[in-house]
Amino acid sequence: MENTPFYFYDLDLLNQTLDSAMYATQLDNFHIHYAIKANNNKKILETIANKGFGADCVSGWEIEAAIEAGFPASSIAFAGVGKTDAEIAIALNRKIGMIHCESLEEILVINEMAQALNYRPQIALRLNPNVNALTHAKISTGLTENKFGLTVREFAELVTILDELNHVQIVGLHFHIGSQILDMTVFEKLSDRILEIVPQFERTLGPFTYLNVGGGLGINYENPTEGIIPDFEAYFETFRRGLAALNVPIHFELGRSLVGQCGSLITKVLYVKKSDDKNFAILDAGMTELMRPALYGAQHKIEKLGANHTENNLLYDVVGPICESSDRFAEGVELPELKRGDILTIRSCGAYAESMSLRYNGREAVGNNLKRTLLNTSLRMVKSA
Ligand code: LLP
Repeated sequence: MENTPFYFYDLDLLNQTLDSAMYATQLDNFHIHYAIKANNNKKILETIANKGFGADCVSGWEIEAAIEAGFPASSIAFAGVGKTDAEIAIALNRKIGMIHCESLEEILVINEMAQALNYRPQIALRLNPNVNALTHAKISTGLTENKFGLTVREFAELVTILDELNHVQIVGLHFHIGSQILDMTVFEKLSDRILEIVPQFERTLGPFTYLNVGGGLGINYENPTEGIIPDFEAYFETFRRGLAALNVPIHFELGRSLVGQCGSLITKVLYVKKSDDKNFAILDAGMTELMRPALYGAQHKIEKLGANHTENNLLYDVVGPICESSDRFAEGVELPELKRGDILTIRSCGAYAESMSLRYNGREAVGNNLKRTLLNTSLRMVKSA
């Protein structure tokens, strides 16, 4: 197979996953916004927009990409701890649905810029609820030690500047406590905290009409085939029960759970090398294409395409070509005997994989060429190989 490495996306699986998430919320006043940062591949954005999801954006570029892909501006929420003036201007000019604000200073800036445009955007306050997501430390965001959200102190101080805020409508709250969360009790705790905080909001800021509980639902990296569709029922049911006392629309920002399992990184074995006690499989993909293992110690299932995994297995360290020791996808993983030219698929790469790829070492942009437009052809190649 020529032209490796490339990202392959199974759009049928993506559609099934999206349908399953939609189905789990159909009877509720629940709105799912796709967190574009997980994967901003144009075809994927268009597929998700077509199904009627909203978008969760974290940069001006993402707002523009969302609109171009067909997400209505009114369905776009814009979050981020460090929005630039240029990005705020895009959000205001595009009249997006909601801006999630993370500091008092930011609210003042938005107020001033909105005043100059004679516009009064709706904003929600991102609060740090101090709930432990019980996930990897680098993807936890809801503890007071993290940089995200207004602190309890800033929330209290907001009252003192309310008179100055005539050009924003503060309509509700936003939370996001972390990612790759599989323990539903974490979301129960978040719901409990929300029920404590909402009355405080109403006392000082008036009617509460918007609640966004963020994203975070995890996927099965260990056994992707078994867990191919995440447990949306359990996730939404947790909030349905936990927040039953509230009578407002509830917004969700799911990234990984919507797109994670539909993508694989397809890569070729360049060389097989033996040391005294190890076999190295050196691939043509590295941390530049998929940085999750190097950055978080994340483990993705690696399979040899078309092989029967029960016979003649050997242990391999599967590494990339980049000049960094951390450029390693797996250590001591069992694989059928490998030789130069074999194709490997690295699974569960639909989220935070292509979108986090780098040009370090002068690497060509992965997937940013014909390969991306040949996705369906690639699927047939992958299946028939
Ligand atoms: N909303 C906010 C405010 C976020 O910061 C995130 C993710 C999401 C929603 C979507 O979360 P999800 O449903 O995908 O868990 N690069 C890391 C993940 C970083 C997540 C950043 N924020 C990784 O590869 O695991």
